[in-house]
Amino acid sequence: MENRAIHIKSFGCQMNKLDTGLVATALQDAGFRLTESVTEADAVIINTCSVRQHAEDRVLSNLGHLKHLKRHRPGMVVAVMGCMAQRLGNTLLEHEAVDIVCGPAQIPQLAELISQALARHEKHLAVTETIRRPVDAGDGVLDDFESAYSISDQQIPGQAFVRVMRGCNYFCTYCVVPYVRGPEACRSPKSILSQVRRLADAGVRQITFLGQTVNSYKYPSGERTYSLADLLEMATEVPGVEWIRFVTSYPCDEYYEDILRVMAESPKVCRYLHMPAQSGSDRILRAMNRHYTAAHYLEMLDRARTIVPDIAIAGDFIVGFSDETEEDFQATVDLVRRARYKNCFVFKYSPRPGTTADKRLADTIPEEVKQRRNVELLAVQDQIGEELSRAFLGCDVTVLVEGLSKKAHVNPMDAEDRPQLVGRTSTDHIVVFNGPPSLAGHFARVRITRTSALTLFGELASD
Ligand code: SAH
Ligand code: SF4
Ligand code: F3S
Repeated sequence: MENRAIHIKSFGCQMNKLDTGLVATALQDAGFRLTESVTEADAVIINTCSVRQHAEDRVLSNLGHLKHLKRHRPGMVVAVMGCMAQRLGNTLLEHEAVDIVCGPAQIPQLAELISQALARHEKHLAVTETIRRPVDAGDGVLDDFESAYSISDQQIPGQAFVRVMRGCNYFCTYCVVPYVRGPEACRSPKSILSQVRRLADAGVRQITFLGQTVNSYKYPSGERTYSLADLLEMATEVPGVEWIRFVTSYPCDEYYEDILRVMAESPKVCRYLHMPAQSGSDRILRAMNRHYTAAHYLEMLDRARTIVPDIAIAGDFIVGFSDETEEDFQATVDLVRRARYKNCFVFKYSPRPGTTADKRLADTIPEEVKQRRNVELLAVQDQIGEELSRAFLGCDVTVLVEGLSKKAHVNPMDAEDRPQLVGRTSTDHIVVFNGPPSLAGHFARVRITRTSALTLFGELASD
């Protein structure tokens, strides 16, 4: 079994990215090696996302390719893990290319399942049968797995994700996440903090706390209940940890100001809030089962800016939700104009089987209308992004350097032969500048000389 090669392809959100990292480490621990090449792999793992149809279509097209590849390599094992594995279960196992279907809660078993499939060529299904039922024992196994195999991000040195909670209890009517990731389950502050300490000892400088609704983190222990604000505060005290982020926040007043105060008080808590609004129309927000109005949401942004004046805010929107009128859409445009986001993500509504919206509401908005609204909303945001970026011109900012910029190969080196690097500020602004690649994983000061809606450009500051 030793040194069998595994190729992993990952789709979806940061939760999935984290799971991919954990699985990769566990497989290496079990004696496998990772390969970039699909054609030389003994086993291929696809970590999947179900949030929109497009995400599932990409996986299905990958499986189509793998079906052909397997005709030449009959011994190859294909495992599908992640949200689509949980959603489709047996249906996916029936696909000619697929040998293993492994849900997000079963990932601790994956290395063993792959070993067995390589030896015996039997199909295997490992998913949660009753996804909405909390399973404490299973959670313990997942917690141990996470603690054992959590390492720094493989692409970005010096950074790591730490999951503080799993699942979601909100049930927004359009969203599949509660059906594939199960109910909310918070990890204990003790295991979270010991994981943070271990990562910091291994050289990690930035920790990102992950949760679908990370600000609803709650852990009762004896007399008190720990909140995300408490976790952030405790993490700032861990030696070696320089920056701490958290994503994603649900617009909710509980603990909101506590979290912002910890941010205001500690320069280690990054000045960034990703808090999706989804729509600016109260009628649509109600149909989405989002528990706030546009006015309340905007008031929350005001409060954030009062408590943390230099905070940057990002949002998500869905355009073309069932029955979204032009007036509803204009209310969203209006909210984006007022919110003054650093950036926002805009998605076209994609009905998900099994969700309340799919069962009760029709997908009434034609694709071309969704597309037009998508483009229009992004154009409004683009202008705001440009205005906000311009304020950085001539300023020096601190960035945590991620590594070579994706465009480093097309752009010229500078006069000193240094390639283009990319880093991020505490406010999550992307900064591109020339410098030595050895800066990756370290902090640098950069003077901003040029800006665009999504990127700041600059030069290493000499101080
Ligand atoms: N837990 C996060 C978001 C998870 S999904 C939160 O609640 O903020 C990421 C984004 O995908 C959502 O914010 C939403 O904008 C979008 N999304 C979710 N379901 C969708 C659907 N059915 N169609 C289109 N976009 C969707
Ligand atoms: Fe989905 Fe809503 Fe939960 Fe976010 S809060 S994961 S959008 S159900
Ligand atoms: Fe997708 Fe699952 Fe994340 S559905 S967005 S990978 S939680």
